[in-house]
Amino acid sequence: MAASSSQERVAAITGGAGGIGEACVARLRRDGWQVVVLDRDMDLARQVADRHGAIAHEIDLADTASIDAAAAWVEREVGPCSALAAVAAHLENPHMPERQDEAEWDAILRVNLTGTFRTLTAFGAGMLERGAGSIVTVGSITAFNSSPLQAYGPTKAAIINMSRNFAVAWGRRGIRVNCVCPGPTRTPAVEASYARGERNPDTMIRQTALGRLVKPEQVANAIAFLLSDEAGAITGIELPVDSGTLATQLWSLYGGVPDPRT
Ligand SMILES: NC(=O)c1ccc[n+]([C@@H]2O[C@H](COP(=O)([O-])OP(=O)(O)OC[C@H]3O[C@@H](n4cnc5c(N)ncnc54)[C@H](O)[C@@H]3O)[C@@H](O)[C@H]2O)c1
Repeated sequence: MAASSSQERVAAITGGAGGIGEACVARLRRDGWQVVVLDRDMDLARQVADRHGAIAHEIDLADTASIDAAAAWVEREVGPCSALAAVAAHLENPHMPERQDEAEWDAILRVNLTGTFRTLTAFGAGMLERGAGSIVTVGSITAFNSSPLQAYGPTKAAIINMSRNFAVAWGRRGIRVNCVCPGPTRTPAVEASYARGERNPDTMIRQTALGRLVKPEQVANAIAFLLSDEAGAITGIELPVDSGTLATQLWSLYGGVPDPRT
């Protein structure tokens, strides 16, 4: 159980056991939130919760009953949930569309699209009753342009659209909804993917304006800001946190991002 007082406001983080999720847990605990780490991987979720004085609980975004049960558990056992970071996602490796595995397609849509939608409705229910809350979804820069992430990219584009829908539907009922869109972020899972040769950090760094990839805590900083009262006038936006990767795209037509050494 968390070493925190009942005065603290409650934040729930799906995918809280992952790289960006743990960074959110750490940041929101420092900001004084009571944090619930929700994940399918309970071993990791417990470790993250122990490291940061949070509470771990199981959720499976592929299962609506599990999402509903987790939301009800948080409200009943921890307290009124006033912030939700919907971070959990099924990731994907690059491939050509004709090589798309159908089962993986279904799993990605189930978790990222349907699961995120159900997470917002389940955790939003209590916020609607109380007329207050803030939600941040997690998209990706793959939402904005073509990429070889054939199922993942479309689900992230849909999450942006979904977040705007919720922002307008629930805005006058006291709930803000925004979407943070990370670029390549050096989480343990992505580092492992580099090590396996599935992704190349050097080609990714070359596409950034800043000449470096994103750190998980930099994504968490944006999420924490949008969840906080300081972002009280912000809803229905998508915020790239990508070291300027989206900004560089047309520079490739002119020889790429300038190298300060040349
Ligand atoms: N790391 C990046 O480069 C990057 C870039 C763009 C967007 N993102 C997004 O950031 C978010 C976090 O990614 P990450 O890099 O920390 O990945 P990660 O794999 O470290 O974390 C994802 C977490 O989600 C959990 N999860 C997966 N399926 C689940 C399910 N069905 N139910 C419950 N939990 C489930 C996993 O157990 C894991 O803890 C994701 O939404 C991802 O799409 C990441």
